[in-house]
Amino acid sequence: MSAPCPTFRPGPKTDSSSSCSSPVSQLWISFRQIDAEQTINLRKTVLWPSIPLSKQLDPSYDLRESTVHLGAFLHLRSADDPSSLSASSSRMRIPITIKPDSTSVLHDIEEGYLDGNEPIGIMTLTQQSYSGAELALPNIGTGNCNKHIQLRKFAILPRLQGQSIGRQFLLHAIEYIKSNYPDERILCHFDARVSQRKFYERCGMKVLDEKSFWKFGSTGQEPGVEYIKMGNIV
Ligand SMILES: CC(C)(COP(=O)(O)OP(=O)(O)OC[C@H]1O[C@@H](n2cnc3c(N)ncnc32)[C@H](O)[C@@H]1OP(=O)(O)O)[C@@H](O)C(=O)NCCC(=O)NCCS
Repeated sequence: MSAPCPTFRPGPKTDSSSSCSSPVSQLWISFRQIDAEQTINLRKTVLWPSIPLSKQLDPSYDLRESTVHLGAFLHLRSADDPSSLSASSSRMRIPITIKPDSTSVLHDIEEGYLDGNEPIGIMTLTQQSYSGAELALPNIGTGNCNKHIQLRKFAILPRLQGQSIGRQFLLHAIEYIKSNYPDERILCHFDARVSQRKFYERCGMKVLDEKSFWKFGSTGQEPGVEYIKMGNIV
């Protein structure tokens, strides 16, 4: 077995970003650390709709001091726009390009999702050893990593899926992890919904175990979802 992971240092609450240039409007994405409670609406909407909001958080990892919750936020204005929000909230925004056929998505998004009020994407990073990582892992070679970070509860607001926001968010999370452990060999791993395997592969992630398994939500009573183990050394 690999040694238990030392405490994951959450680091400063940085705000980095991604943009979207469309014929209709410029959009920008930013990422920042959020509180656990800020993840529950999207978790319910996107991941486990049958679980009540009050049970969306899993105390076994969500509330650990070492756990980091990240949010993606949508902005209408650039950091350079003088009429933009405060400097701190507009820092390091990344432009994204909304596909022309989906610009109507802008009109559908509730105001609460614009300019950094509600996250349009969520992700949780926990320290969790990958079971079996002392063995050679298929596709990535040796699993000899001294740091293991598990990615959990990754979701993008449905109306904004397929706009490259998930890819930008995953890249941001990897950079975030690497910046916290610049000198470590880090295994980033996760239980991937089988339906999202191609997404992760397009983002450079590998299947660590082809054997799929089912989960039934934190209650154990929810409609089942099929998963496989994926990840990579980052
Ligand atoms: C999975 C998810 C986070 C991906 O985010 P996204 O913003 O929709 O994905 P992106 O637009 O960045 O996609 C990046 C690439 O993956 C592809 N892709 C995305 N989802 C895919 C899927 N389900 N199957 C095949 N390809 C997919 C995109 O076409 C794009 O391809 P490209 O390289 O040709 O551009 C998002 O769709 C989501 O929240 N899904 C529902 C919740 C979920 O299943 N979360 C993951 C739990 S493990």
